[in-house]
Amino acid sequence: MEITVKSGGAAKQQTQCLVLFTDAKGELPAFSSVDQETGGLLSALVARGDLKQSAGQTLMVPTVTGIKAERVLLVATGEELKAAAAEKICAGVARALIGARVQEAVIAFDDLELEDRDSTWLLNILSREIVSAGYTFNEFKSKKADKDAAKLEAVTLLQAGRKALEENKVAAAQGVATANGMALARDLGNRPGNACTPKDLTEEAKKLAKGVAKLSVKALGEDEMTKLGMHSFMSVSKGSSEEGQLIIMDYKGGQKGDQPIVLLGKGITFDTGGISLKPGAAMDEMKFDMCGAASVFGTMKTIIELELPINVIGMVAAAENMPAGNASKPGDIVTSMSGQTIEILNTDAEGRLVLCDALTYAERFKPKAVVDIATLTGACIFALGHTISALLSNNDELADSLFSAGNVAGDKAWRLPLDDSYQKQLDSNFADIANIGGRPAGTITAGCFLSRFAKEFPWAHLDVAGTASKSGGDKGATGRPVPLLVQYVLDQVS
Ligand code: BES
Ligand code: MN
Ligand code: ZN
Repeated sequence: MEITVKSGGAAKQQTQCLVLFTDAKGELPAFSSVDQETGGLLSALVARGDLKQSAGQTLMVPTVTGIKAERVLLVATGEELKAAAAEKICAGVARALIGARVQEAVIAFDDLELEDRDSTWLLNILSREIVSAGYTFNEFKSKKADKDAAKLEAVTLLQAGRKALEENKVAAAQGVATANGMALARDLGNRPGNACTPKDLTEEAKKLAKGVAKLSVKALGEDEMTKLGMHSFMSVSKGSSEEGQLIIMDYKGGQKGDQPIVLLGKGITFDTGGISLKPGAAMDEMKFDMCGAASVFGTMKTIIELELPINVIGMVAAAENMPAGNASKPGDIVTSMSGQTIEILNTDAEGRLVLCDALTYAERFKPKAVVDIATLTGACIFALGHTISALLSNNDELADSLFSAGNVAGDKAWRLPLDDSYQKQLDSNFADIANIGGRPAGTITAGCFLSRFAKEFPWAHLDVAGTASKSGGDKGATGRPVPLLVQYVLDQVS
């Protein structure tokens, strides 16, 4: 998909579909000239009430005369032109264009002037939504998608004048790159456990590094991790015949010596629960338990595409959680790489067991900040549902940056307290710490567990159990929180 930004007159555009926006009053403002050329057809349709006046509603006018466009898509903006409405509008435009089966379109975006955001924000989100709306996942369908199915291939974002033209081009490129990163995250997330093993993820990392001089990839196998004393990681991985991997993608786009940002993803390629076996219903969805890792891959892809001048290390703790004769048992005690001993009271709380050793490993990078992303707790879905990710942190500045990045990117996170008062829920009679803290505040106690291994750097944890994938008819990976992470990284560059 190609998205270009240019300046020119809307009426003159030779296109399969010209997209025009109505204003808060439900009228066609700056494009009255287009309307005149069509003999007043567009304004008549709007006046007749054919276009519902709420944000993101669309009306496809399939034939028009008097202008060069073959069709016109009218889009309602609603009364309050703010960021939240713009997200709906962008999604509406994207859906309508894909649904109309056009290959190419011109969007005259001048009239979408927002009260609380500038044009660069709008073009970023619009580009991202348009590319994302065309996402499909057919890797495992034996009949390849209809070859002559119409596909949206090119979109022009048209502005009348030249104001901020260069900035707008950059913003559109960022939106496209973010969507491409999300698509990678979705592809990896949607792959089944048998086609997305820890070693498969290592291969993906190597693929990402191909031809990219700034990215080097290394993966530790189980022998190396055992030697390093990562017995917590190994307590999960040992029960599977698939070898666990600690994947390190080192992107050096910044100055030598600049402290890197570390993004660490939970990569449980399938979570059966282990000996604390999960119930069977919807267990297939535990293939999504590597969506944190997938978001790290996706964000790295976007960073590479944009050639961002920053040092970022993407780490993935990849393992499969299986019940087996040699799997960990409830009550087993292991020594983590940090030296702290852990009583494994529930083998289904495996994410924190692989992440804690990865956090200790991250110390060697002397990171500016470490952000881990994990489908860590079912409790997170009870707390925040499927629209907002949980954010916990030992550093207010980092937490604020991630919170605001989420708001800007339309990929929200909400901070939960990492208060010391919760730590005692992790007390163990037999070891330094237990791997579960009981039913109350399950997302927080999971964060508390990780915090014990994140004392050497500013650290934040994103629990994306509710946001990284969808169930039901829409079952699939969402690509979140790639937009949040990309925005956070962009904010660190500028
Ligand atoms: N991967 C799950 C968390 C999860 C549940 C993600 C549902 C997405 C949807 C995690 O490994 C897990 O099993 N957590 C347990 C922790 C508990 C044993 C303390 C949970 O949430 O039940
Ligand atoms: Mn689990
Ligand atoms: Zn899990």
